[in-house]
Amino acid sequence: MNRTCFNTDLSIKNVEQKVSLIGWVSKKRNLGSLMFIDLRDRSGIVQVLVNDSINCPDIRNEYVIHVTGTVKKKDVPNKALKTGEIEVVADNIEVINTAKTTPLIIADETDALEDTRLKYRYLDLRRPVMQNYLDVRHRIKMSVHNYLDNLRFIEVETPILTLSTPEGARDYLVPSRIHHGSFYALPQSPQIFKQLLMIGGLERYYQIARCFRDEDLRADRQPDFTQIDIETSFLDQDQFLTMMEGLIAKIFKDTINYEVKLPLRRLPYKQAMDRYGSDKPDTRFGFELHDLKEVFKNTTFEAYQKAEAIKGICVNNVASITSRKVIDNLTLEAKKFGLGGLSILKNENEELTGSFTKFLLEEEKAALIKEFDSHNDDIIIIAAGPYNRVSPLLGALRNQYARQLDLIKPNTFDLLWVIDFPLFERDIESNAITSTHHPFTRPRDEDLKYLDSDPTKILSYAYDIVINGYEAGGGSLRIYDQDIQKKIFEILGLSEEDIKRKFGFFVDAFQYGTPPHAGMAFGLDRLTMILGGTDNIRDVIAFPKNLSAVCPMSGAPAVVDEQQLIDLGIQVVKE
Ligand code: AMO
Repeated sequence: MNRTCFNTDLSIKNVEQKVSLIGWVSKKRNLGSLMFIDLRDRSGIVQVLVNDSINCPDIRNEYVIHVTGTVKKKDVPNKALKTGEIEVVADNIEVINTAKTTPLIIADETDALEDTRLKYRYLDLRRPVMQNYLDVRHRIKMSVHNYLDNLRFIEVETPILTLSTPEGARDYLVPSRIHHGSFYALPQSPQIFKQLLMIGGLERYYQIARCFRDEDLRADRQPDFTQIDIETSFLDQDQFLTMMEGLIAKIFKDTINYEVKLPLRRLPYKQAMDRYGSDKPDTRFGFELHDLKEVFKNTTFEAYQKAEAIKGICVNNVASITSRKVIDNLTLEAKKFGLGGLSILKNENEELTGSFTKFLLEEEKAALIKEFDSHNDDIIIIAAGPYNRVSPLLGALRNQYARQLDLIKPNTFDLLWVIDFPLFERDIESNAITSTHHPFTRPRDEDLKYLDSDPTKILSYAYDIVINGYEAGGGSLRIYDQDIQKKIFEILGLSEEDIKRKFGFFVDAFQYGTPPHAGMAFGLDRLTMILGGTDNIRDVIAFPKNLSAVCPMSGAPAVVDEQQLIDLGIQVVKE
């Protein structure tokens, strides 16, 4: 099948050349003595002109055909096609394979339901837009390999059948046939192994690593996903972040030819929560959160007098379109965050209005207008209560308004580091202490004094890279002192016995000359979403699961043969 080139290699330069092309029939238009075929291969589409001087076989959409012919200049170029200045006049067409009528339209615009697309994913993948996502994904990986190889990193694979890694999600378990009752866990990340590679003297490791987490799925979460996983020895936080910024800038340049301005902004976690109500703020738009404690220092409103935090946002140009229903929905949103409600004020002709004004002193109204520099048609939304509920709620509303008002320009990128995360957080329901990142994150030296007195005060050398409001990656400097590591396990409530069973081998390794080390992992799928321009993670994964963690194509997960269960010593309890 002597193919001379890919379709879109052809241009005006090839006019009068003989070519031999292979691809799928994307579209066919029969005009009697003339037929036009849009021939599609991975590179794109070229138009083939078939006239009645040749013996053309029966051809339908998605047939695989082999075309030989001559490149001709088109009288009227087709601007929609990359190859629109030319067409190939066929002198022979051969059908290599036929195709049934496909259950979805194979074009960028398709009206197929997502589950249909996932069931026939191999057809969905023929859509140029899907191939472009996979291409972006591949180019990111090539960029990573090049950049890190140049800096003397080496790629090392770590086990898939392993022990549980503490990233905070549920594990996927694999039963052992040889040791009934024992299970491997699929790695939530290669965290422990990459740290052991540093103890093993590798100094600079990376891996395009598959990770598995059994957690609730969302538009940016899959149960099996891929990380660009990195670990280094002997770098401080600044050196490490600078190296990683170089990587991200190269990825942007190589994939979409975008210049990222370095160095990236570094925003302390506390400021991110105070100003944006999120540890992954999108700073492409305003509506920042304001602390209103001072404004309400003399408040007569009881709920405000008792509140730990009183904060607000001011959204411009929406008061006139804010109906009773919108206000009710905002209140419902507050309830989801565990708050009783919101105070909502409109600015109508430079005056604050709304039922809440009856609780406001004149001086408070004036102070609010001044605080937000508020003008006609603004709305001011105020929440009061525990800081940990108030800030995230207003952060979520801020994002919702930006989307609703279409404030985010396409193809704009906002990159920043969020640093200085708290080492621990308290579960809002159970009040239990857990690691904000994972238990190997190093506390800041100046906060070690709180280890015994108040561990929740400790900040850590942990950082996330945030792009357009997505957590695109995260990592930390690691603890390399075995006494501190033991202490952290204790604070997390692990007994001596637990530590031995879960991390014994890891703690042992720390006794043999552990280098100071640091690392992070980027979410490859999320980076591909951002650079490919989609907000659906399933678009950038060849064979993803749907939101119920099912693969509609293969049917996984599925029941297995009785004998397989017997071999594994497993009895299934039916619900
Ligand atoms: P973390 O848990 O923050 O860190 O994960 C790193 C990055 O992986 C991506 N990510 C996901 N992407 C898709 N689906 C998921 N379910 C999912 N979960 C996480 C995110 C996230 O920022 N071992 C540490 C890294 C380190 O400390 O070096 C870790 O896994 O983009």
